[in-house]
Amino acid sequence: MNLILLGLPGAGKGTQAENLSKKYSIPHISTGDIFRNAIKNNTELGKIAKEVIDSGGLVPDEITNEIVRERLKEDDCTDGFILDGFPRTINQAEALETMLENMNKTLDLALYIKVAREELIKRLTHRRTCSNCGATYHLDYNPPKEEGICDKCGGELIQRSDDTEEVVKERLEVNQENLMRLLDFYDKRNKLTTVKSNAGIDEVFEKIDNIVKEKVL
Ligand code: AP5
Repeated sequence: MNLILLGLPGAGKGTQAENLSKKYSIPHISTGDIFRNAIKNNTELGKIAKEVIDSGGLVPDEITNEIVRERLKEDDCTDGFILDGFPRTINQAEALETMLENMNKTLDLALYIKVAREELIKRLTHRRTCSNCGATYHLDYNPPKEEGICDKCGGELIQRSDDTEEVVKERLEVNQENLMRLLDFYDKRNKLTTVKSNAGIDEVFEKIDNIVKEKVL
């Protein structure tokens, strides 16, 4: 199962990729998580990524493409992958096409999670993330059992530095045009399916799972 999840920041790509990954035992590959780990470990990549992420911009394509190229070669991707947050530009989409060709793989589905802009702002500014394991919560829609504490590992819940209203608006701006181009790119290849995420997390997962069963399995 070779999937990509498309959508603006806050659409629920990470949440649903995690659900799919658990159900089908396919790795969830999030370029955002890879960059955040690099920032945590203060690597050279982390230093580049921090500045870009905190301003709401995009990490350069050459860097991002190389990271994904290497990640897809790992053994756990033999039976498939769920890409979350990649590709984000046409350059990345073309690079992914070449990577898959070189590995004799094909993309099964580009799933676009569609959400209204006002809802995205609400989802992102009220999101909380575990500083230890990266699990994601929402203060209203998916709160932790104990305030400020991760249900899964007991770590401290924090607000991502790019989830402030100002940076969120910049991220939406930066990603909107790229997303439109990507939707067109995958539509032309007959790979695109859209799911409206105007319901709760579990309901949206059910819709996504039905699409996967119909189109991929
Ligand atoms: P990344 O971490 O990928 O951020 P993003 O794309 O902006 O997406 P988010 O993680 O913010 O949102 P999401 O769609 O995963 O939503 P989530 O499931 O958390 O990237 C961060 C940065 O890294 C980028 O800005 C860029 O700088 C850089 N980067 C990453 N990839 C790159 C690339 N390919 N090229 C260049 N640069 C790159 O859900 C959001 C909230 O809503 C949560 O609180 C969740 O609980 C809640 N929620 C989810 N679904 C629902 C629902 N149905 N109902 C109610 N609440 C819901």
